[in-house]
Amino acid sequence: MKILGIETSCDESAAAVVVDGREVLSNLVSSQIELHRKFEGVVPEIASRAHLEAIDSLIQQALQEAGIGLAEIDAVAVSNRPGLVGCLIIGLTAAKTLALVMNKPLLAVNHVHAHALSAAMTLDHDPWPAVALVVSGGHTSLYYVPEATNLQRLGGTTDDAAGEAFDKVASILRLGFPGGPLIDRLARNGNPRAVQFPRTLLAPQAFDFSFSGIKTAVLYHVHGPGKTTGGLEKFSESQIADIAASFQQAVVDVLITKTLLAAERTGVRTIVGGGGVVANSMLRTQLQAACTDRGLTLHLAPMKYCTDNGAMIAAAGYHLLRAGQTSPLEIDVYSYELAEREYMNRESLDEAAGNRPR
Ligand code: KG4
Ligand code: ZN
Repeated sequence: MKILGIETSCDESAAAVVVDGREVLSNLVSSQIELHRKFEGVVPEIASRAHLEAIDSLIQQALQEAGIGLAEIDAVAVSNRPGLVGCLIIGLTAAKTLALVMNKPLLAVNHVHAHALSAAMTLDHDPWPAVALVVSGGHTSLYYVPEATNLQRLGGTTDDAAGEAFDKVASILRLGFPGGPLIDRLARNGNPRAVQFPRTLLAPQAFDFSFSGIKTAVLYHVHGPGKTTGGLEKFSESQIADIAASFQQAVVDVLITKTLLAAERTGVRTIVGGGGVVANSMLRTQLQAACTDRGLTLHLAPMKYCTDNGAMIAAAGYHLLRAGQTSPLEIDVYSYELAEREYMNRESLDEAAGNRPR
């Protein structure tokens, strides 16, 4: 089955065509980084407008590169939650229009679930049951995944997501935007044990994450206790690399500790990982070493599928289609907070998003 995947949840407009959840015929991503760079963060209104300008031609190019016409698509998948609502609505409106005009099923995909499933796209077998770690700009989440359409949330972001902390720490260190790749590169020249930043585990057995404390710890380390400006100049280049490496090590330690705990508690032997921060070289190396030590199998999304893309949306949509979980055209978009609250009070995630039950 050929699925068109559309993604506009944050600052990347993306469209892709994927066959049977694995064979990627095309995967186009239009990044808005240049538009947001001077603000050192994503400006929602600018992002929505840029999605609107890009989405039609991206879809056309994705079909063209896949060598197929719209009529050959079996369904249209789109991320409708969680994300910036003004951004999500652009992709959802495009997807609804195509589904309506072509009379094809519409598949509303949870963006974080798509990250969780993204590592499986490149495998020749299903890795389930597995624990899925998603670490992105907006989310840090752990799931128990017995099968591709059943993601059971173990825990997640309580304040800043890991990627957000990377971006903010990069801003404190005046490295630029987006901060993740810049800290990753700089940290290679630094000593990860130079500064002892806190490892916030919340309760020892908890699967929730908190990264706002470490961001403040870096801020005060740089400027002095309680101060937010004026201290950066006193650090040499190599000391700044040490701060970047020490911050990164603290985040990686927390991510690894909780992921291993999730595997232990659920009894699964396989871990999958996706999301922008899974592109981080220290996380990839150290999580692999920890899994090898314990005899666990690790599948991380390849770099090109870590950050936001349409292929992972099409792949996640394929699993929904096979399970008969298509969405009505009345379906809406959901911001992160709203969706999370709704999920907690409802029996199933898909019911929360208005998907038809199986
Ligand atoms: O998954 P993603 O593209 O968007 C969201 O769904 O949020 O993730 C973007 C995040 C940004 O915060 C970016 O700084 C971070 O992923 N990121 C990294 C690296 N590459 C991207 N963080 C750490 N190390 C990296 N190499
Ligand atoms: Zn994402």
